[in-house]
Amino acid sequence: MSLSFLIGGDLPVHRLGFGAMRLCGQPGNFGPYPDWQAGMGLLRHAAELGVQLFDTAHPYGPGFNEELIADALSPYADSIVITTKGGVEKTAPDRVFPDGKPESLRKFCEASLRRLRLERIDLYQLHKPDPNVPLEESVGALAQLQLEGKIRHIGLSNVSLEQIQAARAIVPIASVQNRYNLLERGDEPVLDYCTAHGIAYLPWGPLAAKPFEPGAPIASGPGTLQTVAAQLGAPPSQVALAWLLRRAPNILPIPGTTSRIHLEENLAAARISLSQNHFRSLDSASTE
Ligand SMILES: NC(=O)c1ccc[n+]([C@@H]2O[C@H](COP(=O)([O-])OP(=O)(O)OC[C@H]3O[C@@H](n4cnc5c(N)ncnc54)[C@H](OP(=O)(O)O)[C@@H]3O)[C@@H](O)[C@H]2O)c1
Repeated sequence: MSLSFLIGGDLPVHRLGFGAMRLCGQPGNFGPYPDWQAGMGLLRHAAELGVQLFDTAHPYGPGFNEELIADALSPYADSIVITTKGGVEKTAPDRVFPDGKPESLRKFCEASLRRLRLERIDLYQLHKPDPNVPLEESVGALAQLQLEGKIRHIGLSNVSLEQIQAARAIVPIASVQNRYNLLERGDEPVLDYCTAHGIAYLPWGPLAAKPFEPGAPIASGPGTLQTVAAQLGAPPSQVALAWLLRRAPNILPIPGTTSRIHLEENLAAARISLSQNHFRSLDSASTE
């Protein structure tokens, strides 16, 4: 099993990334992370442990999460890939809405470039299709930003198979980020499509967390997961990440945490080698 993946065919990353959303004020991932120094320390520790892919987005904070990443990691090592997203606005912890207008996407992208202190964003994702804007217009705006050199690769998030196909008719799509984990596997047709087409698949909520609630529900997941975890002497959350890594070669999980212990535990999933029997029994765990 390879632990690296080429995003867009030319951007190598270690497959186990880091989702930075939790490093924000709470509730609602709104405002700056209260312990800025600790947040920077955690991000640097992740990079030291081999994380190369860091996932953030305009509405995380909004903006503060990107600033924290830049404070922690810039100037960036060549191996670091920061991926951010535009297309969702957040004005209060519970006020979040899509905005995929071309002029808004340009504004989001240029603000992210400034905050992240980047000349070009390696992977820029449309956070969510805007029901009030034709998808072709939003994707067309990203294609234009790519032509201008502000974006290297384009990704999509929270999309259906049909929307991915429509977007690919306009511009190459390097990644898809949808909710998917051992317990929630409704997105499997999209995952399989991405696998078949060499598109990176970044499952969000890989530990089955609810976006605005703390905790990893997978840790108390089904009996099979607990049994396999006990046999391997590993925490269930770690086994669930190992299952994702094994499930398909284009899966790049981005577990989020505010804890050094959890960070180390999650990254150690890359060292778990699941037997065929363990993999198969986990595969059926979501239906228990
Ligand atoms: N595209 C989208 O619409 C979208 C939506 C949501 C999230 N995302 C992205 O996906 C990333 C991951 O999603 P997520 O953070 O919501 O969910 P997640 O990775 O499934 O779980 C994170 C939660 O699990 C806890 N946790 C992490 N590691 C743990 C461990 N080893 N043992 C026990 N608990 C653990 C964390 O708490 P502690 O801090 O205590 O460890 C946190 O509350 C986000 O950071 C963000 O980058 C994208």
